[in-house]
Amino acid sequence: MLCDLHPVIYLNHAASAWPKAPGVVETVRASLDSPPFHPGRSIGHGSDVAQRCRTLLASTLRVADPARIALLPSATIALNVAILGVGLGRGSRVVTTVTEHNSVLRPLRHLKERSSVEVAFVGLDDEGLIDLRAFDHELALGADLVVVNHVSNVTGRPNYPAILFRRAKRAGAVTLLDASQSIGHIDVYPEDMDADLVAFATHKGLRGPEGIAGLYVSPRMELDQIIVGGTGVRSDLEFHPADMPSRLEVGTPNVPATAGLVAALEWREEHGPEFAENAARLAEALHRELSAIPGLRIFADEAGPNGVISILIDGWDVEEAGFVLAESFGIVCRTGLHCAPLIHRALGTAPRGTIRLSVSGSNTRDEIVATAQAVRSLADCVSPTSEQLKIA
Ligand SMILES: Cc1ncc(COP(=O)(O)O)c(C=O)c1O
Repeated sequence: MLCDLHPVIYLNHAASAWPKAPGVVETVRASLDSPPFHPGRSIGHGSDVAQRCRTLLASTLRVADPARIALLPSATIALNVAILGVGLGRGSRVVTTVTEHNSVLRPLRHLKERSSVEVAFVGLDDEGLIDLRAFDHELALGADLVVVNHVSNVTGRPNYPAILFRRAKRAGAVTLLDASQSIGHIDVYPEDMDADLVAFATHKGLRGPEGIAGLYVSPRMELDQIIVGGTGVRSDLEFHPADMPSRLEVGTPNVPATAGLVAALEWREEHGPEFAENAARLAEALHRELSAIPGLRIFADEAGPNGVISILIDGWDVEEAGFVLAESFGIVCRTGLHCAPLIHRALGTAPRGTIRLSVSGSNTRDEIVATAQAVRSLADCVSPTSEQLKIA
C-alpha cells in the first residue's frame, strides 16, 4: 500500500529497474501490436530480433560469438539450466558462497537431495569479503563446479570472481558467475575472469523488461540439456538440436521482451556511462546522509555498484519500517531476506533481514534528500506497536 499524499520514490531497482530505459515501453507495445513473427517459426522474418539482442549482449560481455548466449525467461531459469546442465552426480562436489541467491541455493539443494551432490559454502572474512583461505581449503577438497555471485543483492558488496575463478580453474572446476546484480553496473567480461558460464538478469541494471534473461556458455564447453521441446528449427529431428543457442532455448520465444531489451541495450550504448555516473553519485549521497543518522546500522562502508544500501533502524522491525516508509513517505524499498538467507546468518540479521534501499540513475537528488529525512524521522521515534499500525 502506498501513501496517496506523496509521489512514489522508487528505491527497489535491485529487484527490478523502474522506469525502464527510454524506448522500452514503446518497443514492447509496438511488438505486441504487430503480428507475432517468431524467428524460425513463422513465415516472414520478424527481422530476427533475437539475433540483434544476442549481438548487443555479446558486445556488453565482450565475447566474440553471440550464438554462445542463450535467451531464457529469467536469471533463475538461466541459473537452473547452468547448474543442472553441468552433469553433476553422486560423488560430485560444488563450492559456492554464503552470498548466493535462492536461484543458486535451491537448485544446489535439489542436486544434493536427488543426486547426493556435495555442496560446500564458503563464508565471509572479517572484512565481509569471501574468505579466501576457506575458499582454497574447499577447493583442495575437490570442486567440480564453483558458483559465485558477482555482487550481493543484500549488502551491495562485490565479490572478486577473477581471483576466485583463477583458483577454481586451477582446481579443475567449471566456473559459473551469477551476474544478475552486476551486469549494467560494472564490467562483466567472462573471458577476463575465467568464467565458463555467466547467468544474468536483464531487467535490473540493463533496465530491460521482465521476461527475458541471458546465459553465456563459453565455447570451451557444452551444457547438458535439461529442458527440451519445440525450437521452430530442425523440427525433423527426434532430439532437441545440439547447437547453441537452440541447444538451451525451448518454446515460443518472448519476442516483445526481446525487442524491449534491444531498445534498452541500444539506449545504454549511448547513455550508459552518464546514467551510471549519476547512479553512483546519488547512491553515495544517500549512503553519506544515512551514515550521519544516529541509531542506524548500515551493512557496507559504501553503496554497492548496484546502488544497494541495506540498513537496520534501532527499535524498528524491518517489516514495520518498510510499511511506514511506503505508507507515510511513498518510498518503495524491500524488506526481509531478499531471497538470500545464508548471508543474513553471516551478518547476524536472520531471520528478519534488512531494509534494502536500491538507487538508480533515474532517481533524483530531491528523492535522496526526502528518503534520508524519512529514515531520520523513523530513527528519531520509536516504532509503533502492531496494533497502532493496524489502526493507522
Ligand atoms: C543475485 C541474484 N541472482 C539471481 C536473481 C534471480 O533473478 P530473477 O528473479 O530475475 O530470475 C536475483 C534477483 O533478485 C538476484 O538478485
